[in-house]
Amino acid sequence: MGYKVAVVGATGNVGREMLNILAERQFPVDKIAALASRRSLGTEVSFGDKTLKTQDLENFDFTGWDIALFAIGSDATKIYAPKAAASGCVVIDNSSLYRYDPQIPLIVPEVNADAIMGYSKKNIIANPNCSTAQMVVALKPLHDRAKIKRVVVSTYQSVSGTGKDAIDELWDQTKGMYVPGQEVAPSVYPKQIAFNVIPHIDVFLDDGSTKEEWKMVAETKKIVDPSIKVTATCVRVPVFVGHSEAINIEFEEFLDEDEARDILREAPGIMVVDKREPGGYITPVECVGDYATYISRIRQDSTIENGINLWCVSDNLRKGAALNAVQIAEVLVNRVLSKR
Ligand SMILES: NC(=O)c1ccc[n+]([C@@H]2O[C@H](COP(=O)([O-])OP(=O)(O)OC[C@H]3O[C@@H](n4cnc5c(N)ncnc54)[C@H](OP(=O)(O)O)[C@@H]3O)[C@@H](O)[C@H]2O)c1
Repeated sequence: MGYKVAVVGATGNVGREMLNILAERQFPVDKIAALASRRSLGTEVSFGDKTLKTQDLENFDFTGWDIALFAIGSDATKIYAPKAAASGCVVIDNSSLYRYDPQIPLIVPEVNADAIMGYSKKNIIANPNCSTAQMVVALKPLHDRAKIKRVVVSTYQSVSGTGKDAIDELWDQTKGMYVPGQEVAPSVYPKQIAFNVIPHIDVFLDDGSTKEEWKMVAETKKIVDPSIKVTATCVRVPVFVGHSEAINIEFEEFLDEDEARDILREAPGIMVVDKREPGGYITPVECVGDYATYISRIRQDSTIENGINLWCVSDNLRKGAALNAVQIAEVLVNRVLSKR
């Protein structure tokens, strides 16, 4: 028996990946709807070997639909997600709107799938920020062994994390650099992104950090353990897809680098590629289209008593968004909906 699934934001980067992943993983779909704004009415999107015509979210009735995977940004989500949830459809949302609501579970299935039962309070489940999702997949198995005290993370985040306009800006600016008179001024980003890096993602907060950095702190606490201290510096880099993170972890107990490597090798959702030679690590272009979170450069941090450094790379549109949302839908189906 299949389910009626709506993909909301089906013309966007994340929405298109959601349709791909639902098809790839043969999610039990009886009926599928691709929804976006009125601008995209009739736009064709792929679902496996089928083509779907996009419908207008504003006029869509969610009554009788089982699951809605939302990827449309907080403003529109605020209007449409409660409507969908009120009509009995379980919303799995990619925006940041509901992530910090104590009544709404925030889930990375490899880490806290059991939190799924909290969905029924509001009929909504939140998907974390892309940079958090891949990091907590790596942190959880290490935390279970040696209890993490503190994490220092620097991110190298691709432009697809901002949306489709940002992908166009990097492409056009890069081409424009080579053609006199066709230079492209920054528009999505506050500074040039081509051949540059920008130490600023999302809005600035009073303490001088950015909201993206705050999200990594708050979400790691909610998903893994509130006692873990996190400090983050989030940086946008001229990469189309794939986020990278340099992570320094301080533990309560000593953890040897070889044991950390073995633990990560066995952990769900992780692929360890860690040869201490040129090219013996994963870079973002190599992770595009994959499900795994790749871990490389695992090594002791000898400047502290119990420290490990590692490099973490994942496809932000997949584990950071669409894949994680579909995995949540799989948990929902297996543990809840199929038992009704
Ligand atoms: N990209 C990532 O790595 C990532 C990771 C985690 C979470 N997210 C979140 O996922 C969401 C989507 O991101 P994205 O990268 O896919 O953005 P995107 O490529 O810019 O696509 C946005 C999608 O939202 C739709 N949309 C916007 N306003 C709408 C409205 N008022 N009514 C109906 N549909 C509307 C757009 O439809 P039209 O084409 O019709 O305009 C489009 O399908 C955002 O909340 C983002 O924060 C993204």
